[in-house]
Amino acid sequence: MSALPQSLPGLPAASATLRFQSAAASVTSRYPSRVRPLSRPPAGSELKPVLGNYGFPVLGHLLSTFVEPLEFARERYERFGPVSWAGGIGFRVVQLMGPEALETAWINRDKAFSSARGWAPVIGPFFHRGIMLLDFEEHRDHRRIMQQAFTRSALDGYLTLMRPGISRTVTSWPTAAGFPFYTAVKKLLLDQAAEVFVGAVLGAEADRLSSDFHDTVCGGQAMIRADVPGGTWARGLRARERLERYFAAQIPERRAGTGADLFSMMCRSRSEDGDSFSDADIVNHMIFLLMAAHDTSAIAISMLVYELGRNLRWQDALRDEADAGDGLGLADLDGAYPLLDVAFKEILRMYAPAGTLFRQTVTDTEVCGHYIPRKTQVAINVYASMRLADWWPDPDRFDPGRFLGGGDVAAVHRYAFAPFGGGVHKCIGQQFADMNVKLVMHQLLRHFRWRVAPGYRPLMTWGTGPTPADGLPISLQRLSGG
Ligand code: HEM
Repeated sequence: MSALPQSLPGLPAASATLRFQSAAASVTSRYPSRVRPLSRPPAGSELKPVLGNYGFPVLGHLLSTFVEPLEFARERYERFGPVSWAGGIGFRVVQLMGPEALETAWINRDKAFSSARGWAPVIGPFFHRGIMLLDFEEHRDHRRIMQQAFTRSALDGYLTLMRPGISRTVTSWPTAAGFPFYTAVKKLLLDQAAEVFVGAVLGAEADRLSSDFHDTVCGGQAMIRADVPGGTWARGLRARERLERYFAAQIPERRAGTGADLFSMMCRSRSEDGDSFSDADIVNHMIFLLMAAHDTSAIAISMLVYELGRNLRWQDALRDEADAGDGLGLADLDGAYPLLDVAFKEILRMYAPAGTLFRQTVTDTEVCGHYIPRKTQVAINVYASMRLADWWPDPDRFDPGRFLGGGDVAAVHRYAFAPFGGGVHKCIGQQFADMNVKLVMHQLLRHFRWRVAPGYRPLMTWGTGPTPADGLPISLQRLSGG
């Protein structure tokens, strides 16, 4: 396996890019752009127009949404309420914030919101026909088959495959100052994806897979979105083609085998009506699943480690709990670590790893009394919604205690806490993510103590959600006997 980098080679470049984007954003955000209705509601409908403005010519508000997504979203919410619009490279995008607006799009009563059309302009070329990019009846049929790869017994199989690799890697982490934690967790999860998702033996094949997969994800996040030779987008497309060939070649053997890895399970999955996936479906779903699982979990683990590195009282409490409990079966992870459970929830609330979700309207519709015409691109802002003081007192403070007994946020609103989304596209991997994060944290807590430098704030960028751009340096200290 390739060695873990001790520092991020791209770090100076990342920080220079962010500095440049930040300076540019402060210029574009001051541009005087007139507030207008997105479109006039039908006469006599009693609906209100969606208000907003385009922002800077061509770019619109794009830079502000990258550089200061939280401030930007909260300022729009204050000014326009839960439904507003903003410009960005030729698009006019409606932003939904707050549990009521989110619920309307997720529950999708009038089938007005298409996930396939919303996500296509964002990640379509790299993840086409992944389950999130399917709609309505077709989505339902695929989800019924995929669900069979996420039953409790399937999860138990993944847990068994996952445990040794996590334990081996976490206990081998060095006690260097400034250890790039986010980089290390991403590598751990990529290796784990090769073993648990694909059933590949670690080595050159797994390395090739990890690197192709990494390039595919980066392609989807490229700023310059064109097939220019040598560019991130082009590299991503070539990597996706190699992944397609890799998966397709193995399907017959996996269908006939008994493997407990996710790929084998997807090859053998059958819905209750006996339907199964075609070869092309398996390839598309596998590539999408790798993406959906990977960065989201890496962000959650990293931000939890960051907050615990600043809140040592919570870190110690979680360590006591980890030391007292020994079981690491599914049932234990579900119930035996209540403090870890609430700390993880608080991280999902503060740093929603799938921070913005996209939809496009296929008919005229309304959200919270605002008229939204057909063919409107819609951004569901999960991240900023869970940082609204209207629903969360002192929303920027890390306080897992708010989820302990009595702090039942579901009673306030069912979608006030919704880091895994809602409705038919709600995350299928929620329990997978839960067990993965808890296993890594359990090992970490039992073997190390850590802190972040006083006053340190990670340099953040935007990937699937808020993402550390500086590798997240922390200092691990090995515990005696750890
Ligand atoms: C902390 C970790 C994770 C978070 C916060 C998260 C969040 C989400 C959210 C918000 C959605 C809804 C997307 C939408 O409505 O447009 C989603 C969908 C999805 N997630 Fe996750 N996810 C996580 C981990 C995982 C893992 C580990 C897997 C797989 C093993 C996974 C697989 C999926 C899939 C397949 C979908 C699409 C479901 C569909 O369209 O029917 N996710 N996730």
